[in-house]
Amino acid sequence: MIKKLIVASLLFQFLATFAQDNEKRIDEILKQMTLEEKVGQMTQVTLDVISKGQPFDEKKKQEINEAGLKEAIHTYKIGSILNTGTHTLTRDEWYTIIGKIHQENKTSRLKIPVLYGIDAIHGANYTVGATLFPQELALAATWQPAYAEKMGQITAYEVRASAIPWNFSPVLDLGRQPLWSRFFETFGEDQYLATQMGNAAVLGYQGTNMGHPERVAACLKHYVGYSNSKSGKDRTPIQMSERELRELYLQTFKSAIEKGAMTVMINSSEINGTPVHASHRILTQILKDELKFKGFAVTDWEDIIMLHTVHRVAATEKEAVKIAVNAGVDMSMVPLNYSFFKHLVELVNEGQVPMSRIDDAVRRILRVKLQLGLFTKTHEEKSYYTKFGSAEFANASYQAALECVTLCKNQNNILPLKKGKKILVTGVGGNTLNCLNGAWTHTWQGVDSTYNTKGKKTIFQAMQELGGKENVFFVQGTSFDKDVNIAKAVEKAKEVDYIVLCLGEIPATEKVGDIEDLSYPAAQLNLAKALAAAGKPVITILLSSRPRLFTEVEPMFSAVINAYWPGDEGGRALAATLYGDNNPSGKLPYTYPKYSGSLVTYDHKLSEKRDKDFGFNAFNPLYEFGHGLSYTSFEYTAMSVSKNLLKGNEKIQVSIQVKNTGAVEGKEVVQLYYRDQFASITPSVKKLVRFEKISLKPGETKTVRFEIEAKDLAFVGADLKWITEPGKFDLMIGKSSIEISYEE
Ligand code: BGC
Repeated sequence: MIKKLIVASLLFQFLATFAQDNEKRIDEILKQMTLEEKVGQMTQVTLDVISKGQPFDEKKKQEINEAGLKEAIHTYKIGSILNTGTHTLTRDEWYTIIGKIHQENKTSRLKIPVLYGIDAIHGANYTVGATLFPQELALAATWQPAYAEKMGQITAYEVRASAIPWNFSPVLDLGRQPLWSRFFETFGEDQYLATQMGNAAVLGYQGTNMGHPERVAACLKHYVGYSNSKSGKDRTPIQMSERELRELYLQTFKSAIEKGAMTVMINSSEINGTPVHASHRILTQILKDELKFKGFAVTDWEDIIMLHTVHRVAATEKEAVKIAVNAGVDMSMVPLNYSFFKHLVELVNEGQVPMSRIDDAVRRILRVKLQLGLFTKTHEEKSYYTKFGSAEFANASYQAALECVTLCKNQNNILPLKKGKKILVTGVGGNTLNCLNGAWTHTWQGVDSTYNTKGKKTIFQAMQELGGKENVFFVQGTSFDKDVNIAKAVEKAKEVDYIVLCLGEIPATEKVGDIEDLSYPAAQLNLAKALAAAGKPVITILLSSRPRLFTEVEPMFSAVINAYWPGDEGGRALAATLYGDNNPSGKLPYTYPKYSGSLVTYDHKLSEKRDKDFGFNAFNPLYEFGHGLSYTSFEYTAMSVSKNLLKGNEKIQVSIQVKNTGAVEGKEVVQLYYRDQFASITPSVKKLVRFEKISLKPGETKTVRFEIEAKDLAFVGADLKWITEPGKFDLMIGKSSIEISYEE
């Protein structure tokens, strides 16, 4: 213990000295910098600007255009470059591109290293041969923050192994609007679960020293409130009270900033009529003053220009630059030209943007570059990264995929299936890696199969491997929205014992993924109906970015597995689960709606639940948040609390016994919820406050203990301050519940 304390205090002293030295260094650099050099640091362009060929040509070979690079470095003195622009590049290609950038930069006056950033959101998804993990939403379904950390750690390793030190991840928006095209990029609807997963991902990315050659700087996205647009369409207006913003959406960011996250990317939308890129309140007062964020805030794609062209709060592009920088933007992802640079130099010269604001932004950017160790070494030798794309890394992704698989329904224990039975695999997701990985995979939208990782198995291939080629067949049935050969699938269905129907979505994200209808397209539902009519049990796997509705056909299915977008190892994980080599233990990180008119989260208000008088309620899900079955059963008994009265800062221990009452080993997520019985702001019917995943052998019992205190029961009051009001609370685990009281 004492040893640990000494190590911690030495580390603390080292970090404090390192920070002081960095600040001195920044002072010195700032003194030497011209206005143009400062504004250059705040300028980020996309790789296409300095490479040959046309932007947005996903097929082109990505090669540096020497003249373009010289212009970027010497004329515009740029501080940062982003993106792949095309498709996955090999590590050799990355090393050549990044090497050339740093080489050219060495001939610049101050040689301030260029910071390269990339979207490696479920693995180093823009590097050939990298390890691709389940997407964030799927990771959340494991209810194991350790997997988010592992994903972060391996991604960081493989991103650095591509000579890149900055990752635009994790997404800390909450998935509370199921229509949203980026729902899969979130850790689900619950603030507490998303906070735990987000913190773990940041730890995985940055470690305790992001200058280490196996760590990267994290970028928290998209600060703040981005996920909750009224229409559900990407980048459309958000209406949200500041109370709600603070209680839910700000929390994930606040917590990750406290854990040391050093960059944030700004929400492209408007909140209550103010684009976040123009909001001094959100970017400066809250982020920098209140949350004491020491890193820098980068815009999202072209978002300053859009203050003029789309949001129309600025009459010219130049005015847009003025508004954004004065609001607190530190770096502009311009990213297709140098308009930002030109306007900002003029604005400072005209006194419309103070030099103190520029110095603040540049100080923050230099701080991150120093912490990343870029001044000492821009990147490590390629040969350093011996574990890139290793079996060890693939196995980590496989383990996460196994644990995200969520068994929503299993009528008469139809699953697991016996090996040797005849099985038809069908549906859009049955024989493709793209529907396992989703968007941000090898290309932005992840649709092009040309670049898929070699050697990874689709569901059909993995099932053939486990169940025998002679027993497992594939007929596609439909594409995403068209009948390809439904009749043929039905013919084949007659010859088999079971049907595995893989409903899915074509990968898409951002505006490309906007939809008009939350239901699965008619073609997929028609396939389901036709197969059910064939008289063989249908086991359905859902491979979608968000909860697409299938309520009408759900009663026809014997089993339903939600697999989200489980990544490159998803096929193997699903086959192992179907055949019982894996006992599913995933739990829904969101409420699965039954109807498009009832999109209500689990932590709703009582008024959304009341149904005595009117016969239907707002909250009417198909499957509840936290739901997920196992091939074994668990019994919860003897819930108890260490005391029923919580005073001041005291803590309360809550415990419960969980027994595996079935015949196989299994994992269970024990979830502790609370309800504030009466409060000055209408309380939620329940809120998650702790969880723990445990593993139990058949017949084994474990006691799970949680500790909570008053601040865990707090909410944001009408005065926008966190408060725990004295009164009664219910603590709930499974079907058990205990009442406690709180006194100040
Ligand atoms: C997305 C961001 C992403 C950025 C850079 C934007 O369009 O909204 O999430 O990090 O592009 O690729």
